[in-house]
Amino acid sequence: PAAKSLFGLDELEEKIRSTYGLSKVIVVPGDCETSPFTKRELGRAGSKALLGVLRPDDIVAVTGGSTLAEMADQLTTLLPLSYKNAWFVPARGGLGESMEIQANTIASTMAKRVGANYRLLHVPDLLSEDAYQSLALDSNIGEIVNIIRSSRIIVHGIGEAFEMTRRRKLDESTVSEIQGEGAVAESFGYYFNEDGKIVHTMLRMGMRLEDIMRTEVVIGIAGGKGKATAIHAMLRFGQENILVTDEAAAQEIGRRI
Ligand code: BG6
Repeated sequence: PAAKSLFGLDELEEKIRSTYGLSKVIVVPGDCETSPFTKRELGRAGSKALLGVLRPDDIVAVTGGSTLAEMADQLTTLLPLSYKNAWFVPARGGLGESMEIQANTIASTMAKRVGANYRLLHVPDLLSEDAYQSLALDSNIGEIVNIIRSSRIIVHGIGEAFEMTRRRKLDESTVSEIQGEGAVAESFGYYFNEDGKIVHTMLRMGMRLEDIMRTEVVIGIAGGKGKATAIHAMLRFGQENILVTDEAAAQEIGRRI
């Protein structure tokens, strides 16, 4: 706290918090785009934020991404609190990420770190409409999708739209479609424009927009100057309750409000 007031970060936190009606904003010093140390701090702050709201029998849905992977590595419980009745699940199925930063991997790592349970969603990436429809009828998949959709907490990363289309190796026509729609941010497989409106949806199993909207606690974790526009768009989307970010992104966001 002392270091924060030195940097004026607590004022920035309050400015963003009150502008967007969030319950909490945490800003760590630095820029995680250029500093691995800041990225680690972002992960640590994220795991603290989660533990601050986590109840013993919660269902927590998580997205993928390198920020969430960092957070999973930093998660440690405050014993003697037991989470043996809590569950971690991926928010949505197959998002074409490498193994280490897939939502499935992150859900299982987090669960293991706090002694909780996990269920994974093993569905391939880039489903055709037909394959999607038949998988949706599978009772095992249906069961896990129902668990996912009843999560009380979501922890999600936020990506810059164009970078995410590249990372997911989308074909050129889809990329230009998404760009043409004015997307600046991506999260959960949804693409958002600057006003926080969803302009493009990938066909995925798991959380839907209506589930995100009724989820009690939505925690967004993202930092870096280059993500400021994307984070700002997500704040305008209006579903965030807790934002964990870094100084570089927060300062850019602060300039816009
Ligand atoms: C993806 C998530 O895996 O990671 C997205 O599904 C998020 O929700 C993205 O936008 C962010 O990734 P990173 O590596 O920048 O934290």
